[in-house]
Amino acid sequence: MFKAEKLISIDDLDKEDILELYETTKKIRSINDQPNKKISLLKEFTVANLFFEESTRTRISFELAEKRLSAESISFSAGSSSVKKGETLIDTVRNLIRMKIDMIVIRHSQSGSAHFISSQTGLPVINAGDGTNEHPTQALLDLFTLYDNGLNDKDINIALLGDVLHSRVAGSAIKLWQKLGIRFEIFSPKTVQRNFAAKKTNMSRNLKDFNILYNLRIQKERQNVELIPGEQEYHSFFGIKENNPTKDQYIMHPGPINRGLELDSKSADSPNSLILNQVSMGVSLRMAVLYLLAKKKGSVEPL
Ligand code: NCD
Repeated sequence: MFKAEKLISIDDLDKEDILELYETTKKIRSINDQPNKKISLLKEFTVANLFFEESTRTRISFELAEKRLSAESISFSAGSSSVKKGETLIDTVRNLIRMKIDMIVIRHSQSGSAHFISSQTGLPVINAGDGTNEHPTQALLDLFTLYDNGLNDKDINIALLGDVLHSRVAGSAIKLWQKLGIRFEIFSPKTVQRNFAAKKTNMSRNLKDFNILYNLRIQKERQNVELIPGEQEYHSFFGIKENNPTKDQYIMHPGPINRGLELDSKSADSPNSLILNQVSMGVSLRMAVLYLLAKKKGSVEPL
C-alpha cells in the first residue's frame, strides 16, 4: 500500500513505495504503448504545473502524463505571470488554491521551495526540481529505464560523472541508489563534488568496470564562479567519448545535453545511448506518481 502523500524527496518513499511505484509504472507503460493511450483515472483532479524555471522535457512530460490520465491541468510559467510584477511564491500559490486545484507540480530555483509549498498548502506536491536539492521523478524514471532494459538492482554498476555539487538529479539519484543498494561511484572534478557518503573516484579508475555511464549536465547557470577550468579540458577528462563505451555499456544523461561537453555527438546518438528512452519512460513514471498520490486523496478507480 503506497504510503507517500507527496514527492518532494526520495526520502518520502520507502522501499515498498518504490516497488509499488515501479509496478504501477510497468502497467501504465503498457497502456502508453497502445494506440489509445488515454485513461480516465484522474478525471476528478485538477493539477497545477508551476514552473518558475525553464524546462522542456520535465514540463511537457508532466503535462502529457496529466492529460493521459484525463486530469484537468493548468500550466504556469514565471516569465509570463504576476511573479514579474513582484508577487511572492506563496501568494501565487494561495490564489491558485482558491481556484480549487488538487495537486501541485513545482519547479523553482530555490532549494527547499517544494517543501515550503507542501507545508503551507497541505496539498500533494511533486517536486519537479528545486534548486540544487532534488529532482525525484528524474532519478526514479532513470532507474525504471534500466529495469525496462532488462537490468535488475544487482546487475547495475553506475559511473556517475560530472557536476554533482549543483545537480539536483544527483541529489535524488544518489539517495535512491543508496536506498536500493545499487552500486555506483562518482567521477567528478574536485571543485564540484558534494559530501555524499559515496565513493568518489578520480579518472584513473577504468570506466570499463561500469555498465552504466551516467553523465550529469554541467550546471553553468548554478555555478557563480568558474568551477571548471575549461570546456575542452572537462570534456577530455570527464566527457563520454566515442571510444569510451564498450558494446554492453549504456550511456545516460538527464538532458538537456551540452554536446561536445558532457558527451560527444557520436556517443549521445549511439545505440548504447538510453537518453531518449529516459524521456519516454518519464511519461509513464510520472503518470504512476500522479495516480498513486491522487489515490491517497480518494475517489480514484483502481488501475
Ligand atoms: C534536469 C534539471 O533541470 O534538473 N533536467 C531535467 O529535468 N531533465 C537536469 C539538468 O538541468 O541538469
